[in-house]
Amino acid sequence: MTDLPFTFTLPMPEVIPSNYDNHIERRLSDLRGQCLDQEAYAAMLAQENSLVYEVYEIKRPEIAGEILMGVSIVHPGKVGREFYMTKGHFHTVINTAELYYCLRGEGFMVMETPEGDTDVQPLSSGRVLYVPPRWAHRSVCTSRQEDLVTFFAYPANAGHDYGTIEQLGFRKLVVDGSRGPEIIDNPRYQEQAAREP
Ligand code: F6R
Ligand code: ZN
Repeated sequence: MTDLPFTFTLPMPEVIPSNYDNHIERRLSDLRGQCLDQEAYAAMLAQENSLVYEVYEIKRPEIAGEILMGVSIVHPGKVGREFYMTKGHFHTVINTAELYYCLRGEGFMVMETPEGDTDVQPLSSGRVLYVPPRWAHRSVCTSRQEDLVTFFAYPANAGHDYGTIEQLGFRKLVVDGSRGPEIIDNPRYQEQAAREP
């Protein structure tokens, strides 16, 4: 890892960084307990543990003052009516923000605070999203064919708290409705862990 200035490119259309340190793959099994339709989830998983999203990370020391960057790619797909999505998380150092720049695709960023404020912002190519400190965030791909690709940057000391979302879920979900993507209240909110076998 260099301490000198560096550059990299995000060549279209794949938008995989020209240099990266980590490639993370998240599959259906990583979303266990997170999906609205648990029957559809179990049936899909029994067929195939499909790839749902990928992250390319550029490593930096995880200390205050540094910035972590990377590219997140959520593939198109649904579990029941619910579009493919990331697990989502709060930052462990909750007072840290994150910047997203959407490079390709269509979708939403679902967000909420520990106090119960919620917000869902559309993502499409060219749109920049600022996730303020304290807001948990989850990307959702609503395109039927195209990946949702975002570039992200956040303080390197932020850390990830996945446990809170694994236990409670997000208050809002994005599902396929009769007239396109719909944002609905999560009927399983706060009961996710309890309903897991
Ligand atoms: C980092 C961040 C993104 C996500 C990525 C995958 O703080 O928000 O890089 O890590 O979109 O989502 P998760 O981490 O929720 O599996
Ligand atoms: Zn984050």
